[in-house]
Amino acid sequence: MKKSTSSKNARSAKPAAGKKAAAPKKSSVAAKRNAAPSGRASATASKSAKPAPKKSARSAAASSRGTAKSSGSRVVANTRKKQSSAREDLQEVLKDSLKDIYYAEKQLAKALKKVSKAATNEELKQAFDTHREQTEGQIELLTQAFEALEMRAAGKKCPAMDGLIEEANEHIQEMDKGPALDAALIVGAQKIEHYEIAAYGSMRTFARCLGLGECEDIFNQILQQESETDELLTQIAETVNMEALDEDEAEEVDMGEMEEEAM
Ligand SMILES: [Fe+2]
Ligand SMILES: [Fe+2]
Repeated sequence: MKKSTSSKNARSAKPAAGKKAAAPKKSSVAAKRNAAPSGRASATASKSAKPAPKKSARSAAASSRGTAKSSGSRVVANTRKKQSSAREDLQEVLKDSLKDIYYAEKQLAKALKKVSKAATNEELKQAFDTHREQTEGQIELLTQAFEALEMRAAGKKCPAMDGLIEEANEHIQEMDKGPALDAALIVGAQKIEHYEIAAYGSMRTFARCLGLGECEDIFNQILQQESETDELLTQIAETVNMEALDEDEAEEVDMGEMEEEAM
């Protein structure tokens, strides 16, 4: 029995494997019973698979009509939510930048006193002093920006500005007073100005995007001062660099004279 059943199963199993259901017509009940699971497996799957969409299509159509409105309004709501959160995110970037630059300006106001004392060229000294006064005015302007944004005026540590000031201090400590140090101080000051120009340029754009007119005006005003200072330093550098070169050439002459005397 087992053998015949298994052979019938084997025969009836073939069509299932071959996807042609000719064998089940002639096969025994037992064979049908046994073959059915594998033979019908695909049929059952396809039968149950095909009608299902009809039912679900109807219900899906009905539910999609229902969900069309809700998902549509959900999309609008999500879009508004995204826009408002994007706006908040951008405002956060602006607030963070404001705290950063407020700290930076305060550190710079202190550093410019030291830098001015270290400078030799009178025009450069004057430029540093003028910019220190401007920087104090900028700090005052920034407090107005804090007010406009309904924030407490407070700085946030700015490692970039700390690093740039530290570089300038290193030059002051390591170099003698004179044109070469002046040239080094100009490089340091211009690095600082460029940092500020990048910061205020971006902050002005953020304020404009956010419709914060008062902040935009403040950042624009400061940006102009930073740009003018940068240009002034470039002009002064032309004189200072020549002075530094003259100094080196003068040293070369001195060295040459000393060597001649030694001979
Ligand atoms: Fe500044
Ligand atoms: Fe500056």
